[in-house]
Amino acid sequence: MSLQGKRALITGSSRGIGRGIALKLAENGVKVAVHYYQNEKAANDTLAAIRKRGSNGMVVQADVSRQDEITAMLGKVKTEFGKLDIFVSNARPEVPAFFQAPMDITLEQWDAAFDSQAKAFLVAVREAVAFMDDGSRILAITYAQGSRTGGLQPWVGMGSAKAALESLVRYFAVTLAKRGITVNAISPGWTEDSVLNTLPTQAQDLIRNWHVRGWTPMGRLGTPEDIGNVVALFCSEQAGWVTGQVIYADGGASLMNPEVPTEIQLG
Ligand SMILES: NC(=O)c1ccc[n+]([C@@H]2O[C@H](COP(=O)([O-])OP(=O)(O)OC[C@H]3O[C@@H](n4cnc5c(N)ncnc54)[C@H](OP(=O)(O)O)[C@@H]3O)[C@@H](O)[C@H]2O)c1
Repeated sequence: MSLQGKRALITGSSRGIGRGIALKLAENGVKVAVHYYQNEKAANDTLAAIRKRGSNGMVVQADVSRQDEITAMLGKVKTEFGKLDIFVSNARPEVPAFFQAPMDITLEQWDAAFDSQAKAFLVAVREAVAFMDDGSRILAITYAQGSRTGGLQPWVGMGSAKAALESLVRYFAVTLAKRGITVNAISPGWTEDSVLNTLPTQAQDLIRNWHVRGWTPMGRLGTPEDIGNVVALFCSEQAGWVTGQVIYADGGASLMNPEVPTEIQLG
């Protein structure tokens, strides 16, 4: 699979899953625009790691919940790269910006979720396709469990925003199909070296144990590298016939039945 010479913009690639995607694409010869919001040092570290892998790129800053900043970011990428072949919408605000149950969530928190996911994707895709060739790739990183369940109550804002994002993926897939530009969503399971590591230790332990004990049939959490591999796969020419889909990349966790104890399911 060669992606040599392609150019990508990955939002939120200073850290976490976005960084894993950036490094994996760089290993495949892709030039990467590393985007960050506040953590410039982390973005520069990612760019240095990209260069160590024999590729190159640039660093761009933007608050993706602001339309003018998204437009400015895409403008810088256009000036530097000329063309874009891969756009990955991955950035997500810090948890306190949106994490509140339905009866308590403020409209600011609701807007933080929707502006950074659905609206950001709408704005960025329209800007990006203007300098993308036919056959390019657009990917959104979602959390499909959160968009179709209701148990984790303070996730209501982000879950609803991810549902809207997934819907936009389907609409854009049809809009861009004639140009051979595929638009898909990747839904990681819980992933190491990401937002998970910012949760209280007790919550991290509970989540890890739950998955290792059986909820994830493969018996471990994902890594940013796992998700990078899936994104690279979907950027390949061979993936050109798949569009408008939500792909679970979670070691099988989404296959489990929440009504039956894992010990019984796994046999
Ligand atoms: N982690 C998981 O287990 C998991 C599971 C399923 C889905 N996901 C999805 O995967 C994506 C990445 O998650 P993650 O856990 O890897 O993220 P993370 O480690 O928390 O990193 C967040 C990234 O988004 C950037 N960011 C934060 N607020 C922003 C804003 N207002 N505007 C622009 N960028 C902003 C950060 O930039 P700075 O470094 O500058 O702050 C950083 O690059 C998200 O869409 C998330 O919903 C994650």
